[in-house]
Amino acid sequence: MPATVIVGLQWGDEGKGKTTDALAEHVKAVVRYQGGDNAGHTIMLGEEVFKLHLVPSGVLYPHIAPIIGNGVVVNPATLISELDMLASRGIEVDRVRVSKHAHVIMPYHIALDGAMEARLAKAAVGTTRRGIGPAYADRAWRIGIRMEDLLDGPALRSKLQRILPEKNATLQRQHNVGGFDLDELVQLATAWGVRLKPHLADTTQLVQEMLARGEHLLFEGAQGTLLDLDHGSYPFVTSSNPIAGGACTGGGIGPLQVDEVLGVMKAYATRVGAGPFPTELEDEIGEGIIDRGREFGTTTGRRRRVGWFDAVPLRYAVAVNSVSSIMLNKIDILSGLDEVLICMAYEVDGERVDWWPSDADILARAKPIYEHFPGWTEPIHDCRSMADLPENARLYVDAVERLSGAPICFVSVGPERHQTIERKPRPFRRPLSAANHVAAVVAPAADPAGK
Ligand code: GDP
Ligand code: IMO
Ligand code: MG
Repeated sequence: MPATVIVGLQWGDEGKGKTTDALAEHVKAVVRYQGGDNAGHTIMLGEEVFKLHLVPSGVLYPHIAPIIGNGVVVNPATLISELDMLASRGIEVDRVRVSKHAHVIMPYHIALDGAMEARLAKAAVGTTRRGIGPAYADRAWRIGIRMEDLLDGPALRSKLQRILPEKNATLQRQHNVGGFDLDELVQLATAWGVRLKPHLADTTQLVQEMLARGEHLLFEGAQGTLLDLDHGSYPFVTSSNPIAGGACTGGGIGPLQVDEVLGVMKAYATRVGAGPFPTELEDEIGEGIIDRGREFGTTTGRRRRVGWFDAVPLRYAVAVNSVSSIMLNKIDILSGLDEVLICMAYEVDGERVDWWPSDADILARAKPIYEHFPGWTEPIHDCRSMADLPENARLYVDAVERLSGAPICFVSVGPERHQTIERKPRPFRRPLSAANHVAAVVAPAADPAGK
């Protein structure tokens, strides 16, 4: 399998960092393809905890090339401090490569993100305020600064001379906050360039050469399918495409070069920031899951919202990502509950809805239709095979697999690499039956009489 895409199937924080790290041992490179330092991927190695925002999760293996692809928006200050943090902990970081074409998150993007959130007030998205949306907006508007621009001071100065007056006017006049000084920005940005120059590369070429040699690469998604700019509940989304297709545009590969799509999800749902969340739990069961699961944002420290597992967006996520296999994380956090619930469908305005509406207004009115499953009390951190799990935990995994339409190949029972159960072998390509499964659930055969 030369190219595997690892993609979040929920609202982010599914455990993509652990999954990438757990599967990375035998690959040659791990490539981030979208998002920026809004991501927070946690990897636990014994007593050591690594929280990565930009550097791909494969970095902890010395033989892996960690690559930040063209689709990522890079805050150079974050990248530099992350490289320093890793180096200070004995991780060799000279091999980290960053696409020359990745866009730079400039200080005015961060200021604009915060100012817009404040302006939106009650309608705020609850962004990470890392400048992600404004940086992607400038990329689309063709006024972005790319990593390679940091290497040419005079050219950078003339670009900023054209861009900065408008940014400052917006900040000062529309939002009543301070602007930025041209000289200071040029100085800051060229200093970033000097520091990061050895890491800059044509990452598409690197990726294509590795694939041509038959080497196995992982493409590590950030955020998740339900935060996708196109497929999430707009406007409560991020500004990139976390879905597997994003690995093509942001990682430098073609659709037929993707051999495997590994979907990552956790055994319940969480969401940070605003937006509809039909299965949200605002009771002591939810509090318990937050406490046991330590559901606090890796990037902002915000308390995550938590809810029951929702099969409606899962079917959608399996379809739009063409998921070939799934890793189900954090099932250990459900130990100790009398029963666990799964949302099978929604009721919206009196009608049953099986297909994720991906429309914030409809989702806000969606009432979950639950099926109840018996819980289990035993702690399961030390289970290493499905046979070790309590029967009710096995039944829960079976139910989630049936509902998803893709095989659950890995079950994770703790944050560490080795706390992973290999449930079944990963199929090479997504079985056709998965597509049929979704079709059967959501699209009953058309009435031949056309009634
Ligand atoms: P990501 O953004 O998808 O990489 O996920 P985060 O790192 O933000 O959040 C997932 C959290 O769950 C991290 O603290 C992981 O160490 C932890 N984690 C991952 N898998 C498991 C698991 O199976 N059980 C437990 N208890 N924790 C896990
Ligand atoms: P990882 O990679 C969870 C959420 C924010 C907000 C919305 C838009 O760790 O799974 P943005 O700053 O991207 O403009 O915010 O997206 N968000 C995440 N939620 N995990 C993440 O990343 C997220 N990155 C962004 O909370 O609701
Ligand atoms: Mg995270």
